[in-house]
Amino acid sequence: MLQQMDQNSFQIHCQRKHFLKDKHYHLLIDDNRIQISQSQQTFTKLMFWKTEQNQLIAFGMKYNKVLKWFHAEKNDLEALYRELHTRIFFGNISAIYESKEMLGAGASCKVYKVFNKITHYEFASKCIRKDYIFKREDKERYNRLLQEIELMRLIEHDSIVKMVDIYEGDKSYYIIMELLKGETLYSFIKKAQLNISQIKAVMSRCLKALCYLNFLNIIHRDLKLENLVLLEANNVETVKIIDFGLAIPLSTPNRQLCGTPGYIAPEMFIDKYPYTTKVDMFSLGAIFYKLLSRRSLFSGNNSDEILENNKRFKCNNHLKCCSNEILDLLKQMLQKDPNKRISPEQALLHPFFEESIQGDLGVADESPHEVVRTFPHIKPMQITNSNENIADIKIQVIRGSQPSFEQSLGSNYFPSFDEINKKSRNGSDHIIE
Ligand SMILES: Nc1ncnc2c1ncn2[C@@H]1O[C@H](COP(=O)(O)OP(=O)(O)OP(=O)(O)O)[C@@H](O)[C@H]1O
Ligand SMILES: [Mg+2]
Repeated sequence: MLQQMDQNSFQIHCQRKHFLKDKHYHLLIDDNRIQISQSQQTFTKLMFWKTEQNQLIAFGMKYNKVLKWFHAEKNDLEALYRELHTRIFFGNISAIYESKEMLGAGASCKVYKVFNKITHYEFASKCIRKDYIFKREDKERYNRLLQEIELMRLIEHDSIVKMVDIYEGDKSYYIIMELLKGETLYSFIKKAQLNISQIKAVMSRCLKALCYLNFLNIIHRDLKLENLVLLEANNVETVKIIDFGLAIPLSTPNRQLCGTPGYIAPEMFIDKYPYTTKVDMFSLGAIFYKLLSRRSLFSGNNSDEILENNKRFKCNNHLKCCSNEILDLLKQMLQKDPNKRISPEQALLHPFFEESIQGDLGVADESPHEVVRTFPHIKPMQITNSNENIADIKIQVIRGSQPSFEQSLGSNYFPSFDEINKKSRNGSDHIIE
């Protein structure tokens, strides 16, 4: 029997099947912890699912260090899944998801298309190997993964990829996201020059996303054409920002040089300037330049040379035939001094953009291109703590209406991903000091 206690707690009754007499337990979710008990209290950060004929029949939790299965009513299990997904890691991806083809790869991950066996929806799964995460002893990579998850959990915007579920296997972590069916803007513009109205559409979507991130005090720190992906093939008006692997809350104290050579803001190199969300505006300026010219803002034969030119602020200029409006906006986006650099809100009001897009900052999910709303309505509030332990992540949330289970049951994982991930390539352009 399901009981909703208040905004932040949730509980159900469940049974352990025994030959003579079933044992009854009580499951309680409070904040970011789950408790299962007859009398004794136990908290866990990993939950497993059991299915029969592609329906949930039980959840599994480690109880006294042993994985035990708890059967419950289908509706209760579905409600439990909805309540927990993205709050804690789920354990057995292969119970719910089936792996399809590889969609892309980064330095630290491989991204696969996955198929949800229960809902029949497709998603993308970013698989990050544990041996990569724990290669260094300082837990920095693990903390960064948790930070990526923590920030993505807050984000709900039409121009930014949505996270659906998080899973942990023996050898990998998995971030399940909405599936973007088109290619990256990087590969798209290799084939065709965008016209001005397409460039406007891309820029306005990205600027709206930056307004939103600004509002949340989140810095992405790795905006580049490879991290802009089309939701629909060949439709640049559906472009979305991905990859929050380097993102941080604005309040993070240390000024780290990071990002991708060719897109890095001057304040990452120059201490006297403030290090704020304006770094993303500079990167978007470099993207704008590339969309207009199909050339890079900073040239070089290899990433060290590009980084050097980026550092010295030695910009190219291939844009002699552009309108004054375009040049003016570009110049304001690429201002060396972040204090003088245009804000995303101001940029959207620039004459380059038509009146029709002004005033619409896209915070609501208004896109007709939305494939599926895959998670509970979590409104961003404030990050209050970030810790190496996922169970300790504290995010204040306000929950709104919940989607159906079909909509929310995003993805599940497989052990097979671990195998595929073994072949993960190295080579990414981005740097982090
Ligand atoms: N939701 C998605 N839908 C479809 N494809 C995706 C999705 N997310 C990522 N990809 C593909 O996977 C690639 C790698 O993803 P992502 O940029 O998040 O990984 P990364 O490890 O951070 O990359 P890098 O380390 O190189 O910055 C993307 O460039 C894109 O091609
Ligand atoms: Mg990337």
